[in-house]
Amino acid sequence: MIIPQSTERVFRPLPQLVIEANVNPQQLARAHAAANQDPLAYWEEAAQELEWFHKWDAVLDDRYAPRFRWFPGAQTNIVHNALDRHITTGVKNKLALIWEGEAGDTRKYTYYEVYREVNKLANALRSLGLGKGDRVVLYLPLVPQAAFAMLAVAKIGAVHCAVFPGFSAKALRTRIQELRPRLVITADGFYRGGRLIALKNAVDEALERGCDFVEGVIVVRRAGLDTPMNESRDLDYDAIVRRERWEAATEVMGSDDPLFILTTSGTTGTPKGILHGHAGYMVGLARTLHWLFDIKPTDIFWCTSDLGWITGHSYVLYGPLIAGTTTVMYEGHPLYPQADRMWDIVDRYGVTILYTTPTVIRMLMRYGDQYPAMHDLSTLRLLASVGEPLGVDAWLWLYKNAGHSRCPLLDTWWQTETGCAMIAPFPVSVLKPGSVHRPLPGISVDIVDEAGHAVDHGTLGRLVITRPWPSMPLDFVRPEDFDAAWQQNAWHTGDLALRDEDGLIHIHGRADDVLNIAGHRLSCAELELALQTHKAVAEAAVVGVPDRIKGEVAKAFVVLTPEFASLEDHGEIIRLLRQHLRKEVGPVAVLRSVVFVESLPRTESGKIARAALKALGEE
Ligand code: WT7
Repeated sequence: MIIPQSTERVFRPLPQLVIEANVNPQQLARAHAAANQDPLAYWEEAAQELEWFHKWDAVLDDRYAPRFRWFPGAQTNIVHNALDRHITTGVKNKLALIWEGEAGDTRKYTYYEVYREVNKLANALRSLGLGKGDRVVLYLPLVPQAAFAMLAVAKIGAVHCAVFPGFSAKALRTRIQELRPRLVITADGFYRGGRLIALKNAVDEALERGCDFVEGVIVVRRAGLDTPMNESRDLDYDAIVRRERWEAATEVMGSDDPLFILTTSGTTGTPKGILHGHAGYMVGLARTLHWLFDIKPTDIFWCTSDLGWITGHSYVLYGPLIAGTTTVMYEGHPLYPQADRMWDIVDRYGVTILYTTPTVIRMLMRYGDQYPAMHDLSTLRLLASVGEPLGVDAWLWLYKNAGHSRCPLLDTWWQTETGCAMIAPFPVSVLKPGSVHRPLPGISVDIVDEAGHAVDHGTLGRLVITRPWPSMPLDFVRPEDFDAAWQQNAWHTGDLALRDEDGLIHIHGRADDVLNIAGHRLSCAELELALQTHKAVAEAAVVGVPDRIKGEVAKAFVVLTPEFASLEDHGEIIRLLRQHLRKEVGPVAVLRSVVFVESLPRTESGKIARAALKALGEE
């Protein structure tokens, strides 16, 4: 293992940036010291910057630890802070949302216009009998209505459960069966990579049998597809909002009322549902937007995530709107019609802050320097990345080619469970490529060994969060998953990390059997179970292998059933298995290669010896 040296190159912020920063180095040092000494006072101050219907009785209630309750007794609604309160200020007529379709069609909405759209949909949902606590599954492409749907569901106190549209009908069905929503909101289809992709048919397939708890399906007309509608169940989005009033009351939510559920992969075959609430979540978000992303009134903020992931929830939608900034949503593929699409978007809208992922950066880098050079990128002032380890090469490429060596590039570490960014440099920090820097003020982390003891600098260990934080999950759909994450008095992130000699943190990927394919979490067990449902597969084991662009991809070791074992054409079987995974899990499950073996190596307790297979996989 190469331990990063303190002599490696570092990058200092330009003086002008330090002068203009919302948080300068002195303020940052003071905030770290104050938050260390009294984290609750620090977070209380952060909460004071937002509006509440009723303030908290205490900042933190630890009586039910590790289910810490932040701001108990408080009443609020995140939509009040993201929309309603702006309507009485100068933000009202500012652009909230700039949307661009893959074909180049655009829509722009002011805060007032978003407010009206959301209120109409909120009223329509109430007319359907939905209200506080009801679950609504969103299976939507990146269209403005996806943002309106999230906000409208939250506004009436219901719980949105987004499922990434890159998941298959099967994966959607598993999630719907676990979540038992009363309503599903979807679209007829969307554009991606120059193709029209149908979506509603996947919902029909997912709901085929035994999902009677789903009372309605709302369909957004995006693609003009002739979608069959089920008279007794399906509703047209435009038709139901058309006659609704544009004013709607915002539901009063307690601090531990859920706002959304997102499912993510853990080490088991079944995805984990994570619940986040209205109060602590918005406090964490507001702080990261103003402090970490240094939001100014003139910013145009573009986070390239889909809304279906936590990054989309936090930094495409809620965070930017709470901060009163303008958020950009782009429907399509970053390389369509060619590799300058992202730079074209930055140029045309004057994007000032670009937040993307290492996979996107590596993809752009492979296409070459000429694409960013085609556009005027002088509006950019801040770059950021999240989701996977960002190697030094990709870091330097983006810093130079998009930031022209004058925009800080922030490698931010966090996860679905944490709700918002946790470890990251500030724009005023001295940046060291390859490191995610230090935890933000008010966040305490450690790197520990198996017994929970802190390891020395330079030693790889498990990354844990040692104090509760406001945007922590309220709970998991299966409470035992939550309990499993709190061990030895700390939140176990599942990541391996080390501190270098400057005390800066470097993330080395997952410590558990979770793959990170292009920033998307998939559990090995989930892929193995999916493979095993194919008739050619007797047994399967999946490990991650490094990939130059996607960071990591899956490699499968398969024992064939007798019926298939004698087949010569392994290429054909691999093709079938790839197709099968796509159907079972979705296109996110990228299977690089398949090795056919007589048997799988097992540990003494009969578990698949994944480490041995991984070693084989790297050969
Ligand atoms: C996992 C969380 C919330 C962001 C989107 C992914 C990995 C995240 C970094 C980073 C290295 C990172 C971790 C983490 N990860 N950020 N800056 N450097 N690895 O959310 O699907 O919940 O995945 O992504 O392994 O645990 P997620």
